[in-house]
Parts: sequence; structure tokens; C-alpha cells
Amino acid sequence: ISKFNGRSFLAEKDFSKEEFMYLIDLAFQLKDEKKHGIPHRYLEGKNIALLFEKPSTRTRCAFTVACTDLGAHPEYLGKDDIQLGKKESIEDTAKVLGRMFDGIEFRGFEHKKVEMLAEHSGVPVWNGLTDLWHPTQTLADFLTVKENFGRLEGITFVYVGDGRNNVANSLLVGGALVGMDVRICSPESLFPAAEIVELAQELAKQSGGRVTITSNVDEGVAGADVIYTDVWVSMGEEDKFEERIELLSPYHVKMEMLEKTGNENVIFLHCLPAFHDRETSYGKDIYTKHGLAEMEVTDEVFRSKHSKVFDQAENRMHTIKAVMAATLGNLV
Ligand code: CP
Ligand code: NVA
Repeated sequence: ISKFNGRSFLAEKDFSKEEFMYLIDLAFQLKDEKKHGIPHRYLEGKNIALLFEKPSTRTRCAFTVACTDLGAHPEYLGKDDIQLGKKESIEDTAKVLGRMFDGIEFRGFEHKKVEMLAEHSGVPVWNGLTDLWHPTQTLADFLTVKENFGRLEGITFVYVGDGRNNVANSLLVGGALVGMDVRICSPESLFPAAEIVELAQELAKQSGGRVTITSNVDEGVAGADVIYTDVWVSMGEEDKFEERIELLSPYHVKMEMLEKTGNENVIFLHCLPAFHDRETSYGKDIYTKHGLAEMEVTDEVFRSKHSKVFDQAENRMHTIKAVMAATLGNLV
């Protein structure tokens, strides 16, 4: 493992397999310490900027609580609070923030923006989700897998649904990096971009993992340890509901699909927020219009014993804490 200090985390590929594994194990340790009330104030006196162009529950709260537990001060800056890319260039904003803050989290649309922040701020920058990647989500998901199966290598990890979004990209590359049998099961028109599949294939060659992209649900889910899905329409794509419902209905996660895996210990994961219950979810008019009770996952699966979605949500905090501690806390 090379030194973490001062490094940014913009995508899974920024770290080696060993480094990725180290972050997951560090998160496991920090989670245990937190449960036992053992303090770990590795970032005492540091100031962290949390930049959000898109809304967030988990990522914002995870960064805020993790900062506080580590002894750092988090400063939330929403989309209308600062000039980022509006009245001031990203380069200039990055230089200003880097003079005041010790680390920067960014959630937004174009991935280029988070790269520019990292390039010009001079401090570690962490990607809290862009249109292209959601790497801190991958760490939390893999910690959850490890807690359930005791390992990551050789795990059959199947992502079902919109194969072109940030979460699909991240899981594909992250799974290949750590040596999983990672599969994307989606309609052909939503297959991941060729360069992302190529990157995953290259990483799988080195790790002993496997990469499969298929539109066939039966083949895709056979033998799965994990069935993962995400929303059919990501933030910023709200005009695509109708076409996605049409395209993705065969990829709806139901009990039947879990049974098709042939694995009674299969777990269900979802990064959240999820559309699993018409009565409580946003977009009720769209459900009603299409006669749907839920979208990407049934309420039955969501609330079943297979579902680990709230462990996964909690793990966002422990893994984000690990990333900040490792890249800013002089740990390794
Ligand atoms: N999973 C996730 O990133 O959730 P938020 O959008 O609530 O941060
Ligand atoms: N793909 C989703 C993930 C939300 C955490 C989105 O970008 O909206």
C-alpha cells in the first residue's frame, strides 16, 4: 500500500485493489470503534467543505457525522450558496477553497468539475457522486458484502436495471478491481459505455475477477450472491420516466428474481433512495399513470430478510470516514 495522505478519491480506479481492500477494512475497524465508544479523532482541527449541486440524504449526513467523529468541522455549501461555475470559474473557486479548507467533498453533474477541483485546490477532493461515478457508494456496498459473506473475491455481484448510470459504472469497475464475478444485467440500449467495460475487463484480468454484460435476466442472475438495483431515472433525468418504465420493466426486482438466483442466501442491495412503495415514494402521479405499485423493486423484496439496504446506508458513514481518515489523517 502506498501512502494515502494528500490523495483524492474521484473514482474506484484511483486506488489499487490492496488500497481499496484496506479502506474497507479500515471502515470495519472504525465502525467497531464507534460502537464501543472508542474515539478516533484523526482530523482534529481540520475544516472540510461539503459542496452539493444535487440533493442528498445519505452522503451529506455521512460526511457531516464522519467529520464530527473525526474531530473536523464540516461546512455545507449548497448549489445556491457559492459561485462555483456560475459567477466564478471552478479553477478560481478551487484555489480559494484550498486556501481555507483541508479537504473538499463534491456532489454534482459533470465529472469534469470534481476533477478540476482536485487539480486546482491542492487538497484531497472526494467525489460524493457525479453523473459518471459514485465511488464512496461502492465502498459502503462492498463493506456490506464483506459483512455478509466474509469476502469480496469470487462473489457473484449482479447489478440489474439502468446499466449506464453512475452507480452501475462504479460497481462494474469496483467489482472488477477487487476480483468479483460482476455482472450488469440491463437492456442493450442501457449497457455501460464501451470504455467503462474495457476498463473493467482490464482490471478483472489483473484481479482474477470476471465481467459480464447481458440483457438476459435468467443468465444474468443465475448463482448471484448479490442482486443490486438503483432507480430507473437518476437525478437530472426526470424527463425520462416514461421511456425507462417501458425499457426496464423486465428488470424489476421481485421475489421471483431472487428465487431465480438459486441461492437462498442471496442479499438485496440498493444505494437508496428507492421507489418501492407508491404510497410513500415521490413521483406518485407517474406510478398511478402507469398502473405501477412500485418501480425498480417490489416492497416485498425491499422489506424482506434478504434486504440489507439500511446496513448499506449506515455503512456510507463508516466508509466515508475511512476515506477521509486515510487521505487526510496521516494513518498510512
Ligand atoms: N445513496 C446516496 O448517495 O444517497 P443520497 O443521494 O441520499 O446521498
Ligand atoms: N443513480 C442515482 C443514485 C442516487 C444515489 C442518481 O444519480 O440519482
